[in-house]
Amino acid sequence: MDSQLEQLRAASLAEIAAAGDEGAVETVRVKYLGRSGSISGLSEAMKTVSKEDKPRLGKLLNETRNAVTAALDERKTALAAAADALAFADVDVTLPGTAPQLGSLHPITQLQDRAIQIFRRMGFALADGPDIEDEWHCFDALNTPADHPARNEQDTFYLPDGRLLRTHTSTVQIRTMEKAAPPVRIIAPGAAYRRDEIDATHLAQFTQMEGLYVDEGVSVADLKGTLEFFFRELFGSDAKFRFRPHFFPFTEPSFEVDIKAGAFGGGERWLEIAGCGMVDPAVFEQVNGRRRDTAYDPEKYTGFAFGFGLDRLAMIMSGVPDIRAFTDNDQRFLAQF
Ligand code: PHE
Repeated sequence: MDSQLEQLRAASLAEIAAAGDEGAVETVRVKYLGRSGSISGLSEAMKTVSKEDKPRLGKLLNETRNAVTAALDERKTALAAAADALAFADVDVTLPGTAPQLGSLHPITQLQDRAIQIFRRMGFALADGPDIEDEWHCFDALNTPADHPARNEQDTFYLPDGRLLRTHTSTVQIRTMEKAAPPVRIIAPGAAYRRDEIDATHLAQFTQMEGLYVDEGVSVADLKGTLEFFFRELFGSDAKFRFRPHFFPFTEPSFEVDIKAGAFGGGERWLEIAGCGMVDPAVFEQVNGRRRDTAYDPEKYTGFAFGFGLDRLAMIMSGVPDIRAFTDNDQRFLAQF
């Protein structure tokens, strides 16, 4: 039996070494260690050996089985490693990986967030209103009569039921005053829509930010101070402004705000950046009518309102010559902000 074991050991180890893949290794395992394998057969034969020989032969049998088992495991591991090495033969694992591309907030969103932060510090709360409006909130309540050009079908997107896409965020002035009695101090960023021919300075949908402050004793000085503070926070403390008389149906007096282009390295030109004015008493009366009270008593309260286009601001701040760049979604453009 000694020599039989020796033979089996030598033969099995040789076969294991010669096994070329996992399947071949398994065949060798079954042949020697399987239920009816040769080494298992010898274990059966142990029952018949003499008492004196049993301990020695038992030990030898165990050693043989252990040696074959170890050789099988080793061969399997070696074959798997070789297969891995082959699979990665063409891969240079020392090359840098592919970095994930991080996105960022849209430049208009970034500017809007900054603007909100600045107005928050002056006590302005965020307000909101629907993009689809009725004519009353968009025009009538804002003292814009039926024959006003802004109401022309050619200038506005009307829905079949007579509602329209708001042409400005001034609608939120009205919606805010309908809900809350004075004092109110809000800003309302959001989309506005006009039936403009799309070109380098016009989009059919753009982004505005509206402001409204109504309280006792609010004056043009407060309006000027608030807007100048805001724009200086954005453009730097040396920025120069001009308030030019203008006309809006819902404010009286009304102004347009110009900034010296020098604030963006643009020299001595004046650039228009906002519309504003003192809330027209006729607007308060419209709101009172809806509220069925006299909360906005024009004898007691005054207020100012302003509105500006965030797209236009972003264009002049960043020297973007074409407003369409903000909606083209070209990564090469957006990644610069
Ligand atoms: N709604 C005006 C516009 O879109 C801007 C504005 C807002 C003017 C508030 C005065 C007061 O042009």
